[in-house]
Amino acid sequence: MKKEQILQDLENWKEQLDIEIYEKVSSTNSLLVEMAKQGTPEGKVIVAHAQTSGKGRRGRSFYSPEGSGLYFSLLLRPKMQWKDALLITTAAAVATVKGIYKVTGISTGIKWVNDIFCQGKKVCGILTESGIDPATGALDYAVLGIGINLTEAQTGFPKELEGVAGTLFGAKICQESTKEKLIAEILKAFLMEYKCLLNRAFMKDYKAYSLVIGRQVEAYTETTSDLVTVLDIDDDGALIVQAMDGRVQKLTTGEVRIRPTGDQAFK
Ligand code: BTN
Repeated sequence: MKKEQILQDLENWKEQLDIEIYEKVSSTNSLLVEMAKQGTPEGKVIVAHAQTSGKGRRGRSFYSPEGSGLYFSLLLRPKMQWKDALLITTAAAVATVKGIYKVTGISTGIKWVNDIFCQGKKVCGILTESGIDPATGALDYAVLGIGINLTEAQTGFPKELEGVAGTLFGAKICQESTKEKLIAEILKAFLMEYKCLLNRAFMKDYKAYSLVIGRQVEAYTETTSDLVTVLDIDDDGALIVQAMDGRVQKLTTGEVRIRPTGDQAFK
């Protein structure tokens, strides 16, 4: 991957971004969180070919082997309250679906809240880590990290991801130019929404790409798991669900697992 090519693909958006590319890092998110704490301005992007300690949501790791994926993070300094931070993740999910389609023609969908699926398997995860300014309660920084599984790693996926994780291109080779374009198109689509994030204009697309609306899902929180039907997703990105006893409630955190119907099995 070449930085100059990504900058060229970014067109007018390149002025807002400062990109660094590495062969291997611990985690692109962790590096940027450290930089954020040291005052690095908005727009820094770290891209890596591999991560040794890639991070996922809820304290999990994100499998980031060499040569088969794309791992990158963007440092933001949004002027918003921490309660609105979920909008960054939801806007990024929309941008990722659009970017992947524009560059590859491959259709993907969003499993609430931030997993991108292709043909029933997770091909991309998004993790936003933020810091709060204690004086104001507003966000000091947010680090948006996106990890995409492009091709099958030589070693395959670890046992616990088998049948759950997938790749965009399978056994095909992914050209470096495709990787450069993917980064540029996803960043462009995200920055477009980021300009007016609080308007929530992207929520229309988020709902259109959603794989869970109208489906029965198993909803997990730290302590509970419930079978519910997803009625809708509200403008803050919360899931509106109906429990088996008819109760309607709003889920703002946690995770869902889609109940298989026919031959489609999502995890
Ligand atoms: C998840 O699926 O739970 C979120 C995964 C997020 C992975 C990306 S890869 C780039 C960035 N750096 C990290 O350590 N994590 C994110």
